[in-house]
Amino acid sequence: MSAEYQVHGDVAVITLNNPPVNGLGLATRQGIVDGLGKAQADAGVKAIVITGAGAAFSGGADIKEFGTDKSLAEPNLHTVIAAIEQCAKPVVAAIHTVCMGGGLELALGCHYRVAAPGCSVALPEVKLGLLPGAGGTQRLPRVIGVEAALNMIVSGEPVKSEFIASVPGQKLFDKLAASPESLAEEALAFAQSVADTRPLPLVRNLPCKHPQGEAYFQFARNMVKGMAKNFPAPAKCVDAVEAATKHKKFDDGLAAERELFIHLMWTPESRALRHLFFAERAASKIPDVPADTPKREVKKVAVIGAGTMGGGIAMNFLNAGIPVVMLEMKQEALDRGLGTIRKNYESQVAKKKLKADKYEQRMALLSTTLAYEDLADADLVIEAVFEDMGVKEQVFKKLDEVMKSGAILASNTSTLDLNQIASFTKRPQDVVGLHFFSPANVMKLLEVVRGDATAHDVLATVMAVAKKIRKTAVVSGVCDGFIGNRMIEQYGRQAGFLLDEGCTPHQVDKAIEKFGFAMGPFRMGDLAGNDIGWAIRKRRAVEKPGMKYSKTADLLCEMGRFGQKVGKGWYDYAPGKRDAIPNAEVEKMVAEHRQSLGLAPRKISDEEIVQRLVYSLVNEAAHILEEGIANKASDIDVVYIFGYGFPVHRGGPLSYANEVGLFNVAQAMKRFAQNPQDDAAFWQPAPLLERLVAEGRQF
Ligand code: NAI
Repeated sequence: MSAEYQVHGDVAVITLNNPPVNGLGLATRQGIVDGLGKAQADAGVKAIVITGAGAAFSGGADIKEFGTDKSLAEPNLHTVIAAIEQCAKPVVAAIHTVCMGGGLELALGCHYRVAAPGCSVALPEVKLGLLPGAGGTQRLPRVIGVEAALNMIVSGEPVKSEFIASVPGQKLFDKLAASPESLAEEALAFAQSVADTRPLPLVRNLPCKHPQGEAYFQFARNMVKGMAKNFPAPAKCVDAVEAATKHKKFDDGLAAERELFIHLMWTPESRALRHLFFAERAASKIPDVPADTPKREVKKVAVIGAGTMGGGIAMNFLNAGIPVVMLEMKQEALDRGLGTIRKNYESQVAKKKLKADKYEQRMALLSTTLAYEDLADADLVIEAVFEDMGVKEQVFKKLDEVMKSGAILASNTSTLDLNQIASFTKRPQDVVGLHFFSPANVMKLLEVVRGDATAHDVLATVMAVAKKIRKTAVVSGVCDGFIGNRMIEQYGRQAGFLLDEGCTPHQVDKAIEKFGFAMGPFRMGDLAGNDIGWAIRKRRAVEKPGMKYSKTADLLCEMGRFGQKVGKGWYDYAPGKRDAIPNAEVEKMVAEHRQSLGLAPRKISDEEIVQRLVYSLVNEAAHILEEGIANKASDIDVVYIFGYGFPVHRGGPLSYANEVGLFNVAQAMKRFAQNPQDDAAFWQPAPLLERLVAEGRQF
């Protein structure tokens, strides 16, 4: 049952009941239509209330039905709304907690609306690259005005019911209940009060105009183009609302909205956003760790190392109200780490992003120590000390001695073998990798590294903890670089080859930034510090002595150009500024190195640059998937979107490869393998990719 029907005196109440947010799935839609039928057939019923059970009026479409036949099956939402509008008895929406998307469109179809205070009201379809497709763009401007409606539709952001109710002249709510608790009773009384009112009011009959007409819509179009340059949906939202003001007949406006909606459904940008919406939810599911796996309690956290990562990691827990104890080797290091945390919070207070009392509350949750014994009662300890196996060994042996039984022992290592780290303890089942990204208090991605022995309940617990601290967690198996850094190494190698063959760093960055990356590989190197890659390449030279790569990055480091932190890297930086200024000396070094290889520079197209950089990610990802390092293709997309600035409108490297067509991607790889300057072995399409191409399938 997903909509219940009851009669209270002379008012019928239809209660949507489809947990968790009363999504408007087929059974719920049918339940509403059935309820309306019963109420109309019952002479004793004078009015009807539609409300939602539990924690929502309705959150809109039922995501479980997305993309299935059920989502379109009759009665669809248009039919339900038409049935309400045509109902001979007054229909009152009793709105509370959450009223979003199709839920708000349903309410707008009702004759009257009574809202509880504290309800979040939104049309968030734009966040999936769509627009409200069941009359939202036509009805909302009629009740709150064109500008307010357009703001809500273009931003997708929720607005509180009491704010809307306070706006003079608004017609969205006929009444604001005194409290959520009194809503049911007040809605019943309201329904009784309008039982005999005829004709029944309909939002569709209200006028819809903007005093500046076309000029306003042109202004709005320019605004949204600037804000959402890679996404077509916001501009189409403007078109749809403009249609509401232009068409004389309401149904013609509805038809225009429908056409725009269908157009957006087929755009790659909307496909990318819908893919990511599901990918992010799917990432928290681990195939062999059922959702009901018991979790350990995490009430107190310990962080070891108060350096770049340790401080940011600690802040995540303080922000979530979880006490943290931080350990260092020396008092000075602790003081420095504590100072950085304070500075971070103080800058948030100065920018009014954090209230001063909240800052104090958070700092009060933080304690520091130099003694391992003080960590003993922590439920989770995260190590963020130097990236050196010897140091990790000392730390984990000590943790094994002092930590209480059942505590989770986590490492933030970005490259080291987690299984070896676990072997330093007598409890490898309790050891897991928690690979935060820098800055750890800002970046959303968390790679959860699963060792051979990591226990299921440890994985279930850290996934739940990740959610609590608002991270998007993706599980990775153990390998050098895990998912993200292993892929980016190949991307970096391609960037280097492109220099050797004729590009400048600026040309490479510009091409990939035009594709949509937040930052090209060379600007990113300067930000992260070119010395980090230098150290990795030195290690690689020992581990994989034959591996081909461009020496330009090493030469750059030999010039002392470590990046932004020293004011010069691939580019120059003015003090305190982040603008990358191309440097003639660097370009000379690149040209001389090219000459030393005996290469004549060749003109390389932006298309080739983008393909080589992006497909290098795709091919490595295919190996990662095949080896079982990642559980699913969508996990890899999530890693790249949330951790590496891959353009959101492209959906992640594998989703993008699907869009291009895997046959085309594999063909391009085979072409690149012919290039004598490149690594022919790397460009052999991964076996998984070859198989998918042969079977006509996608990632
Ligand atoms: P860092 O050098 O800034 O900080 C390390 C801190 O650990 C220092 O304050 C040091 O005094 C302390 N420390 C060293 N040995 C210790 C010991 N035995 N006991 C207690 N404290 C000790 O290093 P960073 O960048 O914070 O890196 C830490 C870990 O995080 C490394 O494993 C690194 O690979 C990883 N990581 C670093 C990222 C980055 O962008 N910096 C990103 C993701 C992971």
